Amino acid sequence: MSGGGDAPGINAVLRAIVRKAIQDYGYETVGIKDGWKGLVEGEFIPLDLKSLVGLLPKGGSILGTSRTNPFKSKDGAKCILRNVSEQGIGAVIAIGGEDTLGVASKLCEMGLPVVGVPKTIDNDLVGTDYTFGFQTAVAIACEALDRLHTTAESHHRVLILEVMGRYTGWIALEAGIAGGADVILIPEKPFDVEEVCECISKRQKRGRNFSIIVAAEGAKPKGGEEIVYSSGVDEFGHARFGGVGYYIGKEIEKRFENIETRAVVLGHLQRGGSPNAYDRVLATRFGIAAIDLVHEGKFGQMVAIQGNAIVSVPLKDVIGKRKTVDSKLYEIAATFFG
Ligand code: F6P
Repeated sequence: MSGGGDAPGINAVLRAIVRKAIQDYGYETVGIKDGWKGLVEGEFIPLDLKSLVGLLPKGGSILGTSRTNPFKSKDGAKCILRNVSEQGIGAVIAIGGEDTLGVASKLCEMGLPVVGVPKTIDNDLVGTDYTFGFQTAVAIACEALDRLHTTAESHHRVLILEVMGRYTGWIALEAGIAGGADVILIPEKPFDVEEVCECISKRQKRGRNFSIIVAAEGAKPKGGEEIVYSSGVDEFGHARFGGVGYYIGKEIEKRFENIETRAVVLGHLQRGGSPNAYDRVLATRFGIAAIDLVHEGKFGQMVAIQGNAIVSVPLKDVIGKRKTVDSKLYEIAATFFG
């Protein structure tokens, strides 16, 4: 089952799970449609060795996904436990981020045999150095920055790339370092527009009459709030972020007579399409480790990567927390600001 926003590599995880489950353990496997919604409504998709053809590089999730929170409806959790028992399901592997795995952890306490796989382009899950999907998103954002550099330089403009990441700046920070950003704005460090403008002026004094800014969608001005695209929240209470790039662009134009800005919102381009080689390998390792945990009866655990070792950590130690960016990495990035 895959829940929450998709991430490149979900299908590679499924491929690994199903291949090892059938080939080595003799299990039967079935896909759950559209996240927890499918388990509430009893909607399944056959998953056998034949359904694995072409899955390794395929983006999205062949199972579908949703942000359904079964604990938001009166009988959601009850329906899940009933469907699992009626279908003779011995274990559920939940591929998801904090929300999906939070539900998995609660259901585990209620008796569901479940194992988690950490998926999110945001890389904000604790207990694992990386979630799969993150490196692909960083690579896409880095390529976007390379492209923005040439046009920014030709037109002597300030180009702002807004990237995803929700409450953390992992994508912004790593893509910003890789793409040579002149300023990186992340939620962990609320920004001051005057300081951003100082960086631009510093560059101008060095004869660099263009600048590249990377802004995480959740970046906010000091003392201010995140900029949201629309009002309302999803079933897990999350607002839809969007617009900080335009906000900064306009603020910069107010302060410089001779500077034009352009903002680019990378959006779902960084989530769609094929996983890169790193994520294909990580997703494969996670999938194998997840089915091994099932086989060992180690439920309530999430597979993880620490250093280069695949390990498992209790789901209850992961949920309700957030892995914010490494401050040492931010310091490295800041060396190149301005
Ligand atoms: O959590 C993954 C993520 O891509 C965030 O970076 C982003 O804020 C959110 O999902 C976007 O969600 P949706 O696909 O619902 O617009």
